[in-house]
Amino acid sequence: MKVLVTGGSGFIASHVIDKLVEAGHEAVNYDLRPSPWHGDEIQFFEGSITDAAALQRALEGCDAVAHLAAAADVNEVNADPLWAEELNARGSACVLEAARQAGVKRVIYASTIWVYQDNNELEIDEDVNPALPSHLYTAGKLAGEAYCTSYKSLYDLDYTILRFGIPYGPRAREATVLALFVNKAFKGEPITLAGGGTQTRRFVYVEDIADAVVASLRPEAANRIYNLVGSEETSIREVAEKVEELLGNTEIVITEGRAGDFAGAVISGQRAADELDWTPQTDFAEGARRYVEWRRERAEAAAPPA
Ligand SMILES: NC(=O)c1ccc[n+]([C@@H]2O[C@H](COP(=O)([O-])OP(=O)(O)OC[C@H]3O[C@@H](n4cnc5c(N)ncnc54)[C@H](O)[C@@H]3O)[C@@H](O)[C@H]2O)c1
Repeated sequence: MKVLVTGGSGFIASHVIDKLVEAGHEAVNYDLRPSPWHGDEIQFFEGSITDAAALQRALEGCDAVAHLAAAADVNEVNADPLWAEELNARGSACVLEAARQAGVKRVIYASTIWVYQDNNELEIDEDVNPALPSHLYTAGKLAGEAYCTSYKSLYDLDYTILRFGIPYGPRAREATVLALFVNKAFKGEPITLAGGGTQTRRFVYVEDIADAVVASLRPEAANRIYNLVGSEETSIREVAEKVEELLGNTEIVITEGRAGDFAGAVISGQRAADELDWTPQTDFAEGARRYVEWRRERAEAAAPPA
């Protein structure tokens, strides 16, 4: 298949491009900026997802679009709500409209498990409807989901909605907890855990997410919603201990503070296992090891020769 990936220069989508190519598909990158991760081997269109006409031209001859471009940093969304709305809501509408005009058969839409943030259920699968959102980021992502289902019912354009869990791995932004702890270790600074770092997260390794995006191109995934979540709970303290084990050069300091917050609902990934044959393959220990190795290589490449 020929698949256009929006935001293909970014963290998760760059891995999607790698996995598409690995699986024998043709991947095309559509982004505002050239990819730091790929060269001429991947066709690149420089443009904005808010430009439906340019998107339509880029989609010529494509079978599907994996739509990952977004304002994905919650702090940036809160700082500039109208910019975020233009990207996450309007931009998604533009992608769907361009796909419709170009005769593309399916839009794979990158959403997030944060859409369940305002739900009260303790166990959540895809049959639970997300509650009305209290955050602008989830509001924008849910707008994109709503446009997907509307384009299906009005124009018969197929969608697949993928609600990503908390991703980590090579190419991650610096704001993630693992990246922050690795930065501390590189500088030889202590990692401070207020209240013991007992709060847990279900991380999912980025290449596993990218595998799921490729799997979701299957015909049976049309017009389905999937949660893509990690299989283990990892506490923030375990993240710190893993960094200490892998890099040494740091000390974990436990300070007084609020004990771990409630981890939130348990979100089921069973549907992806049953229908896409997808379960995350990389446990946190292995994923963290690969991330640290990548950071080491980058640090060595950036260091002036001895
Ligand atoms: N990172 C997370 O924690 C997380 C969690 C769940 C879901 N998601 C979703 O996954 C997707 C990818 O997230 P990420 O963390 O890899 O993001 P990222 O910020 O690393 O990548 C986003 C890419 O989109 C591009 N982009 C921004 N505005 C654009 C525009 N107007 N036109 C074209 N391209 C544009 C950026 O240049 C960037 O390359 C997003 O849809 C996000 O909402 C992310």
